[in-house]
Amino acid sequence: MVEGTGRCRTIGKLEREPMRLPDFALERFFARWEFRAEMLLCASDVEGWPMAELLALADEDSRRRWDGLRLGYTESPGLPDLRAEIASLYRGLSADDVLVFSGAEEAIFALHSVSLAAGDHAVVVRPAYQSLAEVARAAGAEVTRIDLRESAGWRLDVAELRAAVRPNTRLILVNEPHNPTGGLSDRATFDEIAQVAMEACARLVVDEVYRYLEFDPDDRLPAGAEMGGSNVAPGAAVAPGSAANARAGALPGVSIGVMSKSFAMAGLRIGWIATRDRELLARLAAFKDYTTICASGPSEILALMALRARETVLARNRAIVLGNVARLDDFFARQGGLFEWVRPRGGSIGFPRLLADYPIDRFCEELVTETGVLLAPGSVFAAAGNHFRLGFGRTNLPEALARLESFAARTFGG
Ligand SMILES: Cc1ncc(COP(=O)(O)O)c(C=O)c1O
Repeated sequence: MVEGTGRCRTIGKLEREPMRLPDFALERFFARWEFRAEMLLCASDVEGWPMAELLALADEDSRRRWDGLRLGYTESPGLPDLRAEIASLYRGLSADDVLVFSGAEEAIFALHSVSLAAGDHAVVVRPAYQSLAEVARAAGAEVTRIDLRESAGWRLDVAELRAAVRPNTRLILVNEPHNPTGGLSDRATFDEIAQVAMEACARLVVDEVYRYLEFDPDDRLPAGAEMGGSNVAPGAAVAPGSAANARAGALPGVSIGVMSKSFAMAGLRIGWIATRDRELLARLAAFKDYTTICASGPSEILALMALRARETVLARNRAIVLGNVARLDDFFARQGGLFEWVRPRGGSIGFPRLLADYPIDRFCEELVTETGVLLAPGSVFAAAGNHFRLGFGRTNLPEALARLESFAARTFGG
């Protein structure tokens, strides 16, 4: 018996890698600190919307659905009216162009799993939310990373993208606005990225979880789902060589969205994929049968309420972010000798740098231990140098910043 137990323990140790996915460094970091630290100065979501306030925003129809809700399984593709509401975020899309997932994370997992296999190639920006590249690799694809550089204002270099593309490139994946830098391509660059994807017959995938948090709304880009494919009505005459003709040959683009960030409702775990590629959506729907089958019923109704009241929801969330960015402008002006950042153009996070010759991992660890304020070191994004992720979606930012400032003064003098 004893011998048998020992044998089981040895086998149970799993000395082999149990899965092809490496640890998700940011999520492992949060597993350690997120619910222990007093203040998250590195969170990427906006201050969670209070449930009572959301219910107070409900229109009559969604309130009726909420009050009469039965906790059974829901429709696998997502509540039809929720899909219609999500589709209305995009030009020219309908409910059937949307599939609901449990968070953007499930959407990424499903998309890579059905789009990529051994022998395929994908291009993903770096740094990035880890799953965007890692799940692609786990699916068997080779992944080329395109570096976003601080010296270039974290902007993507389209020439590098063009050079990275191969005959077997299936996906080109960007994140606009970008985690962790807050970078956002200008319209001309974004159009060029889409052009590269089109010429390569690759699919343009845009992770848009921070969409609507562009500091200047005029900087909002077209959605990935609005790019590529044919916007031409069936049967309409298309002149050979015209831009419309070129678009007609391109794969429809993909948007990844979620309620977590710009809509400030991460706890709903409602995300989605929007695309005019129905064949891709069918494959995704079949994949989802092996993950969550369907989304949470209560969450779908709450997401419906929120999206129907999105002007109000986004106005509150944008006000928090923009108010905090103004505070950060003052902070970086005061702390110019010690911290530096490329001012983000959108989203709720940035990627500043500690200028002192002091390891950033140590700085972050000492900061949270002494003050309760959590910053995420750049190492969780595999980023070289002394970068750290700073989140500005939370209402306690003024207090967290004050603690950071006095900690920095104690540590470095000044
Ligand atoms: C760029 C990006 N994509 C996807 C996700 C996943 O979103 P969710 O956790 O809401 O599924 C995140 C979360 O931080 C993110 O930053």
